[in-house]
Amino acid sequence: MALKSLVLLTLLVVAAAIAVPMAQAQLGGLLGPLLGLVRIQGVLYCTPNGDIGVNGTSTPVFSNALVELQCGGNVVSTATTNLSGIFSILLDPISFVTSTLVSGCELVVNTPLATCNASLPSIGSLESTLQQVGISVLGLLNVANLIPTGFLYNAI
Ligand SMILES: *[C@@H]1O[C@H](CO)[C@@H](O)[C@H](O)[C@H]1NC(C)=O
Ligand SMILES: *[C@@H]1O[C@H](CO)[C@@H](O)[C@H](O)[C@H]1NC(C)=O
Ligand SMILES: *[C@@H]1O[C@H](CO)[C@@H](O)[C@H](O)[C@H]1NC(C)=O
Repeated sequence: MALKSLVLLTLLVVAAAIAVPMAQAQLGGLLGPLLGLVRIQGVLYCTPNGDIGVNGTSTPVFSNALVELQCGGNVVSTATTNLSGIFSILLDPISFVTSTLVSGCELVVNTPLATCNASLPSIGSLESTLQQVGISVLGLLNVANLIPTGFLYNAI
C-alpha cells in the first residue's frame, strides 16, 4: 500500500518534471531538494551486541525479521529483511525530513533473536539510531540515503 502510493507519487513527480516548462526551471531549482526520496537501508545480523566480525563475514544475517521505523514511539513504516538480511524503507521527503529522522527516529526489531539463533534471547528487541550517508540520484529523483548506526539488544 505504502509502496503503491510511493510509486504513484514518483510517477506524478516524474510527470510533473517533464511537464514543467523551461521558463520555470528556476523554480525547479528551488523545489529540487523536495523532489526526491528518503531511503533507509541496512543489513540486520543475528547478533545482540552489534559485533559482526571482520567485514561481517563471521556473523550470520537475520532474515525474515520485521524492522520498524519508530518516531516518537510511533511505528511510521516497516520492512522485512530478505534472505541476505537486507531491509529497505522508502519514504517521501515531504513527510519525512532527514534531520528529523536522524534526531527523532530509530529502527526497532521486535522479532526475537531466538528466531535466527536458538541460543539467543526470545524476548527484547534490537534497536538502532540512524545516520545519513549521502545523496544519490535515481533517474530524476534525489535519494537521501540513511543507514543504521548499529543494532544493539535491548532486553526491555
Ligand atoms: C575486509 O575488507 C577490507 C577492505 O575491503 C579488505 O582489505 C580485507 O582484506 C577484508 N578482510 C577479510 C578478512 O575479508
Ligand atoms: C536482498 O535485497 C538486496 C537489496 O534489494 C538484494 O541486492 C539482494 O539480492 C537480496 N537478497 C536476496 C537473497 O533476495
Ligand atoms: C548463536 O549464539 C551463540 C551465543 O551468542 C553463539 O555462541 C553462536 O556462535 C551463535 N551461532 C551462530 C550460528 O551464530
